[in-house]
Amino acid sequence: MADSQQLGAIRRFFRWLLSPSARWSVLALLLVGGLAGAVSVIGTQVAVALTGSDNFCGNACHSHASFVYPEHKESGHYANRTGVRAMCNDCHVPHNYPVKLFYKAKAGITDAIAEARGVISTQEKFDKERWRLANIVWDEMRGNNSANCRTCHDPEAMKTSKQSEDAVKQHKKFASGKATCIDCHTGVAHKEPEEPKPAEKAAAPK
Ligand code: HEC
Ligand code: HEC
Ligand code: HEC
Repeated sequence: MADSQQLGAIRRFFRWLLSPSARWSVLALLLVGGLAGAVSVIGTQVAVALTGSDNFCGNACHSHASFVYPEHKESGHYANRTGVRAMCNDCHVPHNYPVKLFYKAKAGITDAIAEARGVISTQEKFDKERWRLANIVWDEMRGNNSANCRTCHDPEAMKTSKQSEDAVKQHKKFASGKATCIDCHTGVAHKEPEEPKPAEKAAAPK
């Protein structure tokens, strides 16, 4: 009995939801809808900005604050002659919408779970996982032709007369599509991890 009463209530609720409004004017409904839309768009933007800040990416997670951020601070991408700085977000998160939002949602969930489980909570665990994590980043960058590097470094804007002979020679390879930035420039913001030796690899837990 109770079940059919409940079903009846649900049905009535949906009928009410789908029926045209007798009380509210179309203008009022449009305003409420517009307001709800604006709140969610602005809310998303604020969340993207807050979770993309240098402080959040570098310090919110113990693993970032202890291992990757200190290394980044030693690199030329953190402080250099001209004072142009590349931060976590610049290199690691897509810049184009809506891809950025999907990427952040997915990375946010997997990273938060891994952080809570303490996957890289100690130096020892981090050293063990580092090769695997670096490879995820490298694969991503190879997959998108190092798009994030290119938001700052434009080969068209490179003055070859100011570059070393070696750079100019090697750089012909990306013009011909044979290589992308990350194929040659790893370890540009962190210490480059070394591939574990086969014995360590076998011993590492899957
Ligand atoms: C936010 C802008 C920005 C982004 C994104 C960026 N860079 Fe840089 N990069 C710079 C600046 C500025 C310098 C100059 C630093 C200096 O004067 O020493 C630099 C320097 C370099 C250098 C030469 C000196 C060094 O530190 O080794 C290389 C190589 C390089 N970047 C590669 C990369 C690669 C590869 C990526 C992508 C993973 C990347 N950059 C992403 C701004 C950026
Ligand atoms: C095939 C290998 C290769 C590829 C691909 C490559 N580079 Fe380089 N790059 C080099 C070499 C070699 C140097 C010279 C390093 C040196 O002189 O210490 C260099 C130097 C640089 C420098 C420093 C220039 C200077 O004189 O200070 C920057 C910045 C740079 N590369 C950015 C990039 C970016 C951005 C990409 C992708 C668009 C890229 N490179 C792709 C090999 C490569
Ligand atoms: C100039 C580009 C650049 C910047 C800035 C940068 N990273 Fe990275 N990051 C990379 C690259 C490239 C790799 C892949 C490994 C390598 O080549 O060093 C990487 C790897 C990582 C890894 C995997 C572990 C490892 O060390 O390989 C983590 C975690 C990470 N970055 C977090 C951060 C955080 C947090 C920040 C900001 C504090 C940051 N990165 C800033 C380019 C960057």
